[in-house]
Amino acid sequence: MTFVLPPAPEFGDPLDLEPAPQVLAFLARRRSASALTLAEPAPGEDDLATLLRLASRVPDHGKLAPWRFVVLRGIDKAAFAADLEALALSRGDAKAVAKLGKLKVPPLCVAVISSPKPGEIPEWEQRLSAGAACTTLLYATLAMGYGANWITDWYAYDAEANAILGLSGEEKLAGFILMGTPREAPLERERPQLAALVSRQAAAR
Ligand SMILES: Cc1cc2nc3c(=O)[nH]c(=O)nc-3n(C[C@H](O)[C@H](O)[C@H](O)COP(=O)(O)O)c2cc1C
Repeated sequence: MTFVLPPAPEFGDPLDLEPAPQVLAFLARRRSASALTLAEPAPGEDDLATLLRLASRVPDHGKLAPWRFVVLRGIDKAAFAADLEALALSRGDAKAVAKLGKLKVPPLCVAVISSPKPGEIPEWEQRLSAGAACTTLLYATLAMGYGANWITDWYAYDAEANAILGLSGEEKLAGFILMGTPREAPLERERPQLAALVSRQAAAR
């Protein structure tokens, strides 16, 4: 399926605030799918381009675009997984090999890389913007009717694994967003009790 978005607004265009009840309903029920259940079809190239356009439209203090995307599909994803497997095997780490299933099984993966820029915008804020890109990419994929999951696992934090993917300098792996069509519907998971998480600041008297 190909989803067609309204044209991207031009710089400086007035953008009226529009209520979007369908978006609220989607947010109330959306759920990640287990990566191991994801099969073809995954988003095709047109839908993927749409998803990346949406994922790059996130809050970003200083307009730095402090993130970038690496698309892994087909033989390219298989080659990356094979390199990671060789790395894990060279360390005799069978558990790490087993963890690669979540990367191998889904047909499409987008690695979101946090790529902070030097200057006055705090690095923390730039890392948060990369998280926003991950969340937006995940939600947009689900909103298209695909299944998706945000994975990190050991190869997000491993220097040698990062090098295989071409990360440099201050870059960090924010997330691997795995995409496809779930073979089974995900079940709702436990959700936090808001009462314990929300408080109100009382003015000191
Ligand atoms: C930063 C981050 C890292 C995650 N890493 C992993 C992971 O390594 N392995 C995994 O199975 N799930 C991972 N998850 C996914 C969660 O375990 C869980 O599937 C997800 O938060 C469910 O969200 P949802 O149902 O609200 O969409 C990660 C999620 C986040 C936000």
